[in-house]
Amino acid sequence: MNAITIVGTGYVGLGYAAGFTKKGLKVFCIDLDETIVETINKGKSPIDEPGMDDAIRSAVDKDLLTASTDIMEGWADTKSIFICVGTYCDEEGNIDLSQVRSAAHSIGKALREDREYRAVCVKSTVIPGTTDGVVAPILEQESGKKVGADFGLCMSPEFLREGNALEDILNPDKIVVGGVDQKSINTIEKNYRDFEITRGHPIIETDLRTAELIKYAQNSFLAMKVSFINEMANLAEEFGVNVGDVAKALGVDKRISSMYLRAGPGFGGSCFPKDVLALLSAAKKVDYNAQMLKATLNVNDRQKRHGLELVESISSLEGKTVALLGLAFKPNTGDTRESVSITVINDLLRKETKKISVYDPSEFAREEIYELIGDKITYATSAKQCLAKADIALILTGWQEFKELEPSFFVEHMAENPILVDTRRIYDETEFQKAGVTIKVLGQSNRKDFVPS
Ligand code: UGA
Repeated sequence: MNAITIVGTGYVGLGYAAGFTKKGLKVFCIDLDETIVETINKGKSPIDEPGMDDAIRSAVDKDLLTASTDIMEGWADTKSIFICVGTYCDEEGNIDLSQVRSAAHSIGKALREDREYRAVCVKSTVIPGTTDGVVAPILEQESGKKVGADFGLCMSPEFLREGNALEDILNPDKIVVGGVDQKSINTIEKNYRDFEITRGHPIIETDLRTAELIKYAQNSFLAMKVSFINEMANLAEEFGVNVGDVAKALGVDKRISSMYLRAGPGFGGSCFPKDVLALLSAAKKVDYNAQMLKATLNVNDRQKRHGLELVESISSLEGKTVALLGLAFKPNTGDTRESVSITVINDLLRKETKKISVYDPSEFAREEIYELIGDKITYATSAKQCLAKADIALILTGWQEFKELEPSFFVEHMAENPILVDTRRIYDETEFQKAGVTIKVLGQSNRKDFVPS
């Protein structure tokens, strides 16, 4: 049987487990956390991701998915072992490889008694040089075997977006497989054979280090695109332009593409900020001053503060009741890691506001923020409750639920003379103005005061 072992059951591990089992492959998920293992074996998803609950339930019902804390579960059947553990990074951008190392130790031990050829594949995001310089020696030392000759080794980065994980896995634009040799690459590639590569790109075969850098280059490029359009948004406000029109014109050019050109309050999540910082820090270690990466992060840090700057350009925050709509770093996820909402809440806590009320449609997101901030702010369970009697409201996440709110809803529930700052550009300024809301939409203005001298 061509079974697959996946070590680590975060978004990536579980996402691929769901994707492979949807294509009829048998998967063994390994995690140290017994609660996660139990949840999966009960047919439930331990993460809040669209479609994941159904996919996990169906895979467990069909006996295609088993979770365990023991790597030997299903070992006899497995041909490919994917490492999908977290690679957290400190404030200087040094990535923590402890989980990758520990996964490599357990896999190496399991390989020791093997007669079968199996291939190990790193899917966790790791700095170039990690798979051949850190993972390979551990596997060889623990197994007493030789990489290439006795077992295969690959690095195959993932490009999935949270909230879209399953869709991105099953219909990828590309699949990258870097390997120590062709036999390793062939073994890992087989698992992807039923995925529909939408634009017909072949699987991109590379060496290990190239595959590792492709991942960082891709995330850094997209993050840079977001910082770029955010910089244009700030200039648009000064020049009396709507950045949406600029982005639209840029986006129709095939050389640019329209994606990742939505101006907003800065990028968050567990990937863009961490990956750009990690690459910047790795660049420093080889004495290279990576200026584009640095600028991408600097623009983003400033952008996270722009929402409150817009508020303060209309009104002081002192003594005001402020409502924040959106805590997750983007819609359709409960994830608040590096979310702009955290920066805004912390900045507001330093101001003399009367009350800060927050709401996110995801209960996961509300709980995460509660863990971090505690009782210093009020947690609402609906937009209506959050906006009640608020003087100022900020849209921080572009949830569909918020897009559907009418101007009259704000007028009805907020205090007199409501102020609204829309950092996600989801509302029509004119409609809100007509309804009596003072609104500022990030990235646009009617100012005509600047005239070049
Ligand atoms: C990102 C990448 O898009 C995935 O390809 C990659 O696999 C993943 O990181 C990872 O490394 O694991 P993700 O962090 O889930 O995925 O989120 P995105 O949808 O890419 O959004 C990232 C941030 O950029 C969000 O805060 C979002 O609001 C912001 N963004 C995105 C904008 O402000 N404007 C845009 O036009 C697009």
